[in-house]
Amino acid sequence: MRIALSMSTTFFRSLRFRLIASVVTIEIVMLSLLVWNNIAIIHTTHTDRLRDTAFSMIQQTANNSGTYMAAVDYATLQYYLEKVMGYKELAYLVILDRNDGAVITLGSAPRKTWPLMDSHPARVTDGVFDISGEILVADQPMGKVLMGFSLSLMEEAIRKSRIRGISIAATAIILTAIVTVLIGLGLTRRLGMLSIAAQDVGKGNYSITLPIETKDEVGRTATAFNRMVAEVSNRTRKLEEAEAKARKAETRARKLLAENRQLTRTSLTALEDERKHLARELHDELGQCITAIRADARSIRGLSKGCDDRVDASAGAILDVASRIYEVVHSMMQRLRPGVLDDLGLVEALKEELSAWQERNPYTKCKITVSGDLASLGERINITIYRIVQECLTNVSKYAQARHVTVDLSNTSGKLVLNVVDDGKGIDPTISAGGLGVIGMRERVEALGGKFQLETAQGKGVSIMVTVPLMNVEKGTTEYA
Ligand SMILES: Nc1ncnc2c1ncn2[C@@H]1O[C@H](COP(=O)(O)OP(=O)(O)O)[C@@H](O)[C@H]1O
Ligand SMILES: [Mg+2]
Repeated sequence: MRIALSMSTTFFRSLRFRLIASVVTIEIVMLSLLVWNNIAIIHTTHTDRLRDTAFSMIQQTANNSGTYMAAVDYATLQYYLEKVMGYKELAYLVILDRNDGAVITLGSAPRKTWPLMDSHPARVTDGVFDISGEILVADQPMGKVLMGFSLSLMEEAIRKSRIRGISIAATAIILTAIVTVLIGLGLTRRLGMLSIAAQDVGKGNYSITLPIETKDEVGRTATAFNRMVAEVSNRTRKLEEAEAKARKAETRARKLLAENRQLTRTSLTALEDERKHLARELHDELGQCITAIRADARSIRGLSKGCDDRVDASAGAILDVASRIYEVVHSMMQRLRPGVLDDLGLVEALKEELSAWQERNPYTKCKITVSGDLASLGERINITIYRIVQECLTNVSKYAQARHVTVDLSNTSGKLVLNVVDDGKGIDPTISAGGLGVIGMRERVEALGGKFQLETAQGKGVSIMVTVPLMNVEKGTTEYA
């Protein structure tokens, strides 16, 4: 129903309908005015002619009748009047004497009181134009002539003229309508082809070529359209080629990036392994040696009691140096692989790292807040978060000149979020970052399927936000592959 309605609306709005409807309407209005005007003129012409004929005939008949009446020649008068009656429109003819008595009556005279007088055939209502004329002989009234002219012949002639006029007008309207429809159909068919072709081009079909049937405006439009489609097709092809090239380059760049990442992850894994190995070596080898040195120094001290004071002083000095070496080695071990991370977990390791950092950087207030379950994140996440915090704090102490730094770590609804914010001078965008710290942090986070964001503005510090989804991450070794 709705489709039929919209189709009919489309038809009434179409150029074809509007063209045909307007031409035919104008034609009907103009021809109707013409026919109406012609009918009025024909009517006036016919009635004027009848009036002129009637008045001239009555004048002549009155004159001639006067002559015959003066000669009292009624036989010739009768003969003359019968000849006059031969006029086809004359319905009756009556001669009256001075006393209005009928002398001669010819035709179908009306039975009513004399005299009868109509001023104009156009104002006649009974179908007969009645007129009378005075018969004068030497200016003396001898009687009257009464004549009645039937209007039927005149009306028949007017009717025929009207029918002819209307027929001509109707033929003209029909011919105009046919010609307009034909021209309209031809025109709109070609315009319709143009419109369909334009829609096809809009959908991306550039193989269309419109036939050039004529060299008129539509033909020229079709030529211009074909040229435009060829140009669009050409440009689109070039664009597609360029896009294909760009896609190829992008794929290559992506492959290179993936390879790069893989390399970085492998080196990060190697780095962590090496750190772990070094920490163990330091602990096992150097730690044992220092312990032995300290034990030896102590026994030298014990043995030298009461002997040479210089031996005791040297043994004390060895003990001090060995203790310092132990502290340095211990600190190196912590940095390489904090034992507390494995022993007490991430939170304790972070707290220890922060308090050590605070000691080294007393002018920057450092604070940590933790929330949620952070005890069973797995080694891989633990070491990643630990290294990131370590790198952030190193950067703050190296570059930020901050007064405060905060570390927030939370585990909420399966998402681990780390925020490290300082209020230092921020990263200067004009200085190119040559280091690997930020890149390494990003790589570590992305290797866990997480997101790394760094926000900074000059004078407004640096904010680092790390988000790691906990579902996807396999807990386990420090493999970054
Ligand atoms: N918290 C910070 N405040 C100010 N500048 C920073 C901060 N962190 C990093 N930067 C700037 O960003 C650069 C890159 O840092 P990073 O990638 O860690 O490299 P590196 O520490 O080896 O120089 C640094 O050289 C420094 O200019
Ligand atoms: Mg750094």
